[in-house]
Amino acid sequence: MSVFRDGILTSKVALVTGGGSGIGAGIARTFARQGAKVALLGRTAAKLDAVASEIRAAGGEALVTPADVRDYAAVEAAVKRTADAFGGLDVLVNSAAGNFLAPAAQLSANGFRAVVDIDLCGTFNASRAAFASLRERRGAIVSITATLAWVPTPLQAHAAAAKAGIEMLTRDLALEWASAGVRVNTVAPGPIEGTEGMARLAPGEFADRMRKHVPLGRWGEIQEIADMVLYLSSPAAAFITGACFVVDGGTALTGAARFMELMQG
Ligand code: NAP
Ligand code: COA
Repeated sequence: MSVFRDGILTSKVALVTGGGSGIGAGIARTFARQGAKVALLGRTAAKLDAVASEIRAAGGEALVTPADVRDYAAVEAAVKRTADAFGGLDVLVNSAAGNFLAPAAQLSANGFRAVVDIDLCGTFNASRAAFASLRERRGAIVSITATLAWVPTPLQAHAAAAKAGIEMLTRDLALEWASAGVRVNTVAPGPIEGTEGMARLAPGEFADRMRKHVPLGRWGEIQEIADMVLYLSSPAAAFITGACFVVDGGTALTGAARFMELMQG
């Protein structure tokens, strides 16, 4: 059961990058349940198709727009396809990202660049491509970052730099685009159960050690992130722009001690 009233996004159109899995898919499903027409963007068409089929089976409307967020022309084409098919665009969610554990001293320049390209440049590409459509409908952008954007985290220099970049990009865009009526915010999740992100970042028994150190005593649920993104995309957030909402059970308050353990083996 949702704490939101039904139909908050009726007649709205959303494009979700990274919508084929994990948190992005959860956001897409939640938006569709709330009445939005949803376009899904990612590199793997089969993953997007599976989520779109689920949404359609539940009575929603979904469009699959495969693209790599590093390819500006492809992202621009996906935005155009979405607006053409659904009559406009109200919300862009940037959830596409890549990450892995790697000590900075051993990370290749290309490995660092790949993550910054996907997370930071990909978020700029989609935001820039969507702006013209969003301004027509006084829309909103919500980008998924992470608390490592400000908590220094061993083995995560690449993702931390990329997510910190998105946090600053968000404040710049919020200021520049406020007069166009486009709001720009971020959601920074803590560790979320059942995601590719945590499978990569908390291997094996490290997951249980990390769980014990979350002040609220557990990892979060995908739905808890989707609900925050829904709130920021709704009229309830009409006066919120340039803000970061942390949804992490208090984890960032404790610093990155668990990752120090991981680095030390
Ligand atoms: P995920 O399931 O792997 O989601 C990432 C999605 O991005 C995938 O569907 C992937 O699909 C897509 N993607 C990757 N590279 C892309 C590219 N170049 N172009 C287009 N799409 C691309 O991981 P997740 O754990 O749900 O993470 C979702 C978001 O939450 C990310 O921004 C992540 O940093 C953030 N986050 C997650 C957690 C967590 O606990 N999981 C915590 C903090 C923040 P393809 O590979 O098919 O393209
Ligand atoms: N440790 C260190 N370096 C790694 C790595 C790892 N686990 N995985 C990839 N790299 C390096 C590669 O070696 C390569 O560098 P090189 O050319 O110097 O060897 C560089 O990263 C790019 O790798 P490639 O596989 O070509 O990149 P890609 O663009 O196909 O994929 C990734 C991007 C690497 C981020 C990949 O992990 C991915 O697609 N992830 C998406 C899903 C995900 O990460 N979800 C969690 C979100 S929090």
